[in-house]
Amino acid sequence: MIIIRQNILKDPKSIITGLGSKFAIISDENVSPIYGQALLKDLSKLDVEAFLFSFPSGEIYKTRATKERLEDQMLEAGLGPDTCVIALGGGVVTDMAGFLAATYCRGIPLVLIPTSLLAMVDASIGGKNGVDHPLGKNLIGSLYEPDKILIDAGFLKSLPLHELRNGFVEMIKHGIVGDQRYFESLEKYPSGLLSADSPLLERMIAQSCRIKSQIVQQGTGKRHLLNFGHTVGHALENLTQYELSHGEAVAIGMLVESQMAVNLGHLKPSSLDRIKAVLAKYTLPLKLPSEISIDALLNIMILDKKSINSRPRFVLINEIGSPLNCRHVEEPVIKNALQWMNDALCSH
Ligand SMILES: NC(=O)c1ccc[n+]([C@@H]2O[C@H](COP(=O)([O-])OP(=O)(O)OC[C@H]3O[C@@H](n4cnc5c(N)ncnc54)[C@H](O)[C@@H]3O)[C@@H](O)[C@H]2O)c1
Ligand SMILES: [Zn+2]
Repeated sequence: MIIIRQNILKDPKSIITGLGSKFAIISDENVSPIYGQALLKDLSKLDVEAFLFSFPSGEIYKTRATKERLEDQMLEAGLGPDTCVIALGGGVVTDMAGFLAATYCRGIPLVLIPTSLLAMVDASIGGKNGVDHPLGKNLIGSLYEPDKILIDAGFLKSLPLHELRNGFVEMIKHGIVGDQRYFESLEKYPSGLLSADSPLLERMIAQSCRIKSQIVQQGTGKRHLLNFGHTVGHALENLTQYELSHGEAVAIGMLVESQMAVNLGHLKPSSLDRIKAVLAKYTLPLKLPSEISIDALLNIMILDKKSINSRPRFVLINEIGSPLNCRHVEEPVIKNALQWMNDALCSH
């Protein structure tokens, strides 16, 4: 159940109604002082037991070791199967707390309160959770649906712009693979309204969640569509050693994968221009830090989880809002699109 409402923290009773009397808030060390401490205090005023557990922020802490530490702390606090986890944070926290809730005492209730834009429109939707391993991201995890997802755009007031961008890219992706009219409203959405408290932003978040939920409900075949831009994007993140953020890399990945669709005669060149314009409007830099080695990038893409028989696959789009599917692309077409990327997006 997704509930989108303002000032969620001002009504702590509504967060916990129907979920028992013991609550473990899980957060990270950035979000905890801004919102976690206050939620703990407010819950403690109600007739329930509440605890706050936080871990250092950042992807590098999305590990089994962090999960184990949190579990130890919860067990030492005497928390049993009658405890409800409240995940309060970005996607790292919702992934971590979701996985923990799925396995703690063989599964306990879970509420997600995403505080980053990416977590609101992407990470908290679809039931996937997990932690990273040195051999790859999200390799260990589960599918576990939360009892509630509470979304409040007010949290975004404290989110830095570069983090907002990561969310905007996924929203634009949802328009491209799922809903042409949504894409058009992102095109129309005035740039000045990037300010976080706008009701329009709230509506756009709600629609983005709806698109992702609908795609997920159609099963794994369709879920692949959410990987649009990500075969190239993940490889770029990896090759630039994360100098490009996830959003920056996926934005470029969406352009490269759109260029492949143009080269194959599916997508109109003018649609690629529209995708580029909307990404630029949401302040995505669309620049490579330096020229990329095409062979090195190809070698990384071969390891992508969607590859079959060492051949990478890409989500190709026919038109904005109308994807084809996830498929192999002949190497010369891939190389041509990557060369286009170097020529168009590298200033060196
Ligand atoms: N489960 C899924 O389906 C799914 C989908 C997409 C992404 N993810 C995962 O989500 C993670 C990325 O999520 P993210 O971009 O939210 O990263 P994140 O959780 O690291 O949050 C980004 C940064 O913003 C801070 N932050 C969060 N909310 C804030 C707020 N309101 N005010 C100030 N600072 C705030 C965090 O402390 C962190 O420093 C990745 O681990 C990714 O694998 C999961
Ligand atoms: Zn992504």
